[in-house]
Order: sequence, then structure tokens, then C-alpha cells
Amino acid sequence: MAKEEIVNKTEVTEFILLGFKTLPEWQALLLVIFLAIYIVTMLGNILITAIVLTNNHLHKPMYFFLGNLSVLEICYTSTILPRILVSFMSGYHGISFSGCFLQLYFFGSFACTECYLLSVMSYDRYVAICKPLHYVAIMKSKLCVQLSSAPWILGAVLPAFTTFLASQLKFCGPNVIDHFFCDYTPLLMLSCSDTRQAEALMSVLGSSCIMPPLILTFTSYICIICTILKIPSISGKKKAFSTCSSHLIVVTIFYGTLTMVYMLPNTDTLRDLNKIFSLCYTILIPMFNPFIYSLRNRAFKDIVREVFSKLVPMRRIQGI
Ligand SMILES: *[C@@H]1O[C@H](CO)[C@@H](O)[C@H](O)[C@H]1NC(C)=O
Repeated sequence: MAKEEIVNKTEVTEFILLGFKTLPEWQALLLVIFLAIYIVTMLGNILITAIVLTNNHLHKPMYFFLGNLSVLEICYTSTILPRILVSFMSGYHGISFSGCFLQLYFFGSFACTECYLLSVMSYDRYVAICKPLHYVAIMKSKLCVQLSSAPWILGAVLPAFTTFLASQLKFCGPNVIDHFFCDYTPLLMLSCSDTRQAEALMSVLGSSCIMPPLILTFTSYICIICTILKIPSISGKKKAFSTCSSHLIVVTIFYGTLTMVYMLPNTDTLRDLNKIFSLCYTILIPMFNPFIYSLRNRAFKDIVREVFSKLVPMRRIQGI
């Protein structure tokens, strides 16, 4: 009996990630697109991290959070995209059992960190816009360190439970995952053990990553919008709103798609939609975040321009 269990448990030694295999004629185009996305994401985020760390006058709370966000995006995309690129190039879609669970853990961990970090950043904007006179007093360096380390700690701890739970399940085949990375829901569907308990615990842990930051973020933005509406001059309103409108869009897309994938019922008709939503928060958001959060910022723009004019002799090019 015990032996049979072991045999059953080890029956699945690898999973097949179908990914975008359903569109064979698009493989080459998709490879080029994903490669470009990965390169842009890495370069953009590395640039921002380097700027934050090397410029002394950017050693302020907001920029620390931006730096942390960029480091996070580098880690986050690197758990998903390289694997997709390799399977596009090699045509091999398998992922080992342990590889799958590693991806499950790191993806969960970085996604959870991102949820909390985005909410910390919206809190920072809330203090800056709604309590500008107390900003320096509130955002002391100790609080700042706590606020930027808490997301990493929560992100490391919470998904550890869900990953452990998922790794206790039995998989006796089939082993084909209709998704482009190892995610909880598609993995649970393949298990041959009773998954009800695991599913319940996972939705509790999943919502503990999504709900508190979501509530904090939206409360912050509601306060921010109320404060902006009270600004008497229209140009003042526009200026204040332009600094946070793009954040609001990113945050809405990120939490919106994440919530839809994890909270909506997992039906056949929704599955392809889920894949597209997953693309948004796994691949597109990390690419756009550095541009939206940092490069729209005046101080950042100036530094980037300076860096590039040192690398490329701009004046000569402009003179042509
Ligand atoms: C992340 O935040 C901490 C604490 O605020 C800061 O010391 C560190 O430099 C930040 N990391 C980056 C890459 O900006």
C-alpha cells in the first residue's frame, strides 16, 4: 500500500506547460515580441535601480520605493519570461516537478510583494499630497525601511504555505498545464487528491496577499482625489492629477486583472481570458511600471538625459 502510494506520487515527474502552443504559426513572432519585452523590462528597471542607488539626492522615501519596485520587477519577470523564451526557442515545453513548484513559489512571492509594495507607494503618495507639511515628519528613515521591507517579508512568507500545500498534493497524470507558467489554479486541476481543503486555504492566503493592499491603495487614492478636487486652481488640479493618474491606471490594471484571475470561477470559457489577464500582470505591468512611475518624474528624466548624453555625444547628433 505504502509502496503503491510512492509509485503513484512519483508518476508525474514533469509537467508540460502548453503556453501559447495552440498558435504554431505565431511562434516566431511571439518569440520576437517576448524577447523584446524582456529586454526592455530588464534595461528599464536596471537603469532605474542604478540611478536610485548612485544619486545621493534621490535618497528619499519615494525613490527608495521606486528602486525597490524596479528590483522586484526584475525578479518578477525573470521567474516567468526566460522559461517562455526557452520553450519558444527549443520547442520543448516540459518543466520538472520541482521546477514547477519553484516557479509557483517565486511567482507567488514576487506577486505578493508587488501587491504590498504598490500599496506602500500609494500610501507614500497619500502622505505627500494630503499631508504635505507633515511628510518629512511621518516618513522618517526608520518607517521608510520598515515600509519597504515589510512587502518582501510578507511576500516570502505567505506563498510558502500555499506552495507547501500544493506540493503535498498527488499528481497521477495527466500532466499538461494549459497555461504559460505554473500557477495555482491550473496545477490544482491536475491533482488526483481531494483539493477542496487546499483550495479553501489557498483562497484565504491568496486574498491575504491581494485584499489588504487593495483596500489600502484605493483608500489612499480616494483621499488623494478628494484633496486634488479641493485645489482651487485648474492648473494646480491638473498638475497634481498628472502625477498620480498614471499610477492609478497601473494599479487598477494590476489589481483588477489579478483579482479577476484568482477570484472569478475557473470555467472553460473564462480560461483563455484568464491567460490574457495573466499576461497583463505577469509581463506587461513589469515592463510599463518603470516608465510610468519613474520616467514621468522630472528629477528622473533629467538624470536619464544626462546619462544618455554622456554615453552618446548628443550635441553632435543634434547638430547634423
Ligand atoms: C529599498 O528600500 C530600502 C529602505 O528604504 C533602501 O535602503 C534601499 O536602497 C532600496 N533599494 C533600492 C534598490 O532602491
